[in-house]
Amino acid sequence: MTNLGYPFTLGVASGEPLPDSVIIWTRLAPEPLGRDPRRPGGMPGLVVPVRWQVAEDEGFRRIVRQGTAQADRRWAHSVHVKVDGLRPGGDYFYRFSVGAPFAATTSPAGRTRTAPAAGAATPVRFAFVSCQRYEHGHFTALRHLADERPDVVLQLGDYIYEYGRPADPGPGRYVRRLEAPEEACQTLQQYRNRYARYRTDPDLQAAHRAAPWIATWDDHEVRDNYRGALPGDGSDPAVFRRRRAAAYQAYYEHLPLRVRPSASGLQMHRWRPYGRAADFLVLDVRQYRTAATMLGTAQEEWLLARLAGSAARWKVLVQPLFFSRRFVPGPPPNLRADAWDGYPEFRRRVTGAGVRGLVVIAGDVHNAWAGELRADFADPASAPAGVELVGSSVTSMPPATDSAAVLAANPHLRFFDGRRGYVVCTAGVEGFHAAYRAVDFVDRPGSPVRTAAGFGVRDDRLVPDAV
Ligand SMILES: [Fe+2]
Repeated sequence: MTNLGYPFTLGVASGEPLPDSVIIWTRLAPEPLGRDPRRPGGMPGLVVPVRWQVAEDEGFRRIVRQGTAQADRRWAHSVHVKVDGLRPGGDYFYRFSVGAPFAATTSPAGRTRTAPAAGAATPVRFAFVSCQRYEHGHFTALRHLADERPDVVLQLGDYIYEYGRPADPGPGRYVRRLEAPEEACQTLQQYRNRYARYRTDPDLQAAHRAAPWIATWDDHEVRDNYRGALPGDGSDPAVFRRRRAAAYQAYYEHLPLRVRPSASGLQMHRWRPYGRAADFLVLDVRQYRTAATMLGTAQEEWLLARLAGSAARWKVLVQPLFFSRRFVPGPPPNLRADAWDGYPEFRRRVTGAGVRGLVVIAGDVHNAWAGELRADFADPASAPAGVELVGSSVTSMPPATDSAAVLAANPHLRFFDGRRGYVVCTAGVEGFHAAYRAVDFVDRPGSPVRTAAGFGVRDDRLVPDAV
């Protein structure tokens, strides 16, 4: 058998931490951008054994778990290993190795961390990111995030963008080339190669090696503004269902998820507990959406029950879309139907439920915002119902925004920053703090990172932190 070349071109990753287990991931792709759909990643139709090891130390002297996973073509030779029997709140290191049909090779090591035990008061330090359009810039923000080694990274959607390259992209917008031939993704092979393009990026690989990720998706993992089983542009729903299934499969193949897609879809909404400090409630705002409901009835009921039953100090809604009312002065529409402003009744059920310690995190708008939630956003005297932290994009181009006019028209919104970056937070039984990090530029590598603002939360209100 010929030597197939270096297989770990897409790096390694971990995710979905629980107190006793994590998922570790890699995908064998000696030709990550190979265009033969019968050989995804340049792999022949073989089942390849992949050895994995998990250790307590970076030198892999204290190995606590190891085994062999089978990589096969059905899932593009990705492996998702559920590693259990780990101790809560523990740091671990993991790596993979292969033999024939490769020259014997070991992957780089990743660092991961389990969640704390159910009763533990350990604070959780988490970062959140969204909107990493590859063509729009360098993932420098992710490199800085990796250097901070948070306990966990939350990805709030637009992990990829499905677009092809327009005939004339315009000046300054497209600073990096997509995989050839730079087409919009429609087929499984195209989505796979789009993920492969992203995952060959060294800064994105570093961010996955630094910490476990918990990801949810927005629209661009499939198609702009899609809604449930419908494409959103009036095109053939049967064609769109196949495209969505291909996109969901490629998403699974490239992220360290616990659950595989099936014919009915891929369950993304889930509860990730971090002891007494925080409950992360991860939402899916796309798969079940209709004109009447953002989440679908089953997910809505699940969320309200989880919020009512949570004993954690902080209940963190992990989801893509701007949650608070955001009235944009000027010609209508002044409220965005694609965000929670399009679903005010269910939003009122969340903010009016008397939940203490509610923190909504969001992305999507490619600018950073912070504000307070209101039981009734139309009434400025309405009681504060928690806070919302909206992170900027990693790279995706921000829209022109008259932030002063929006802040003036929405007194519950307190902060805006137009630079790209990420947010890092500490949630503990004693308090909650968030720091907004910003990079100066993304059109070339090497930007420094700065702290744009810091906030704490007191009595469900936002209080500025010294930075
Ligand atoms: Fe986006």
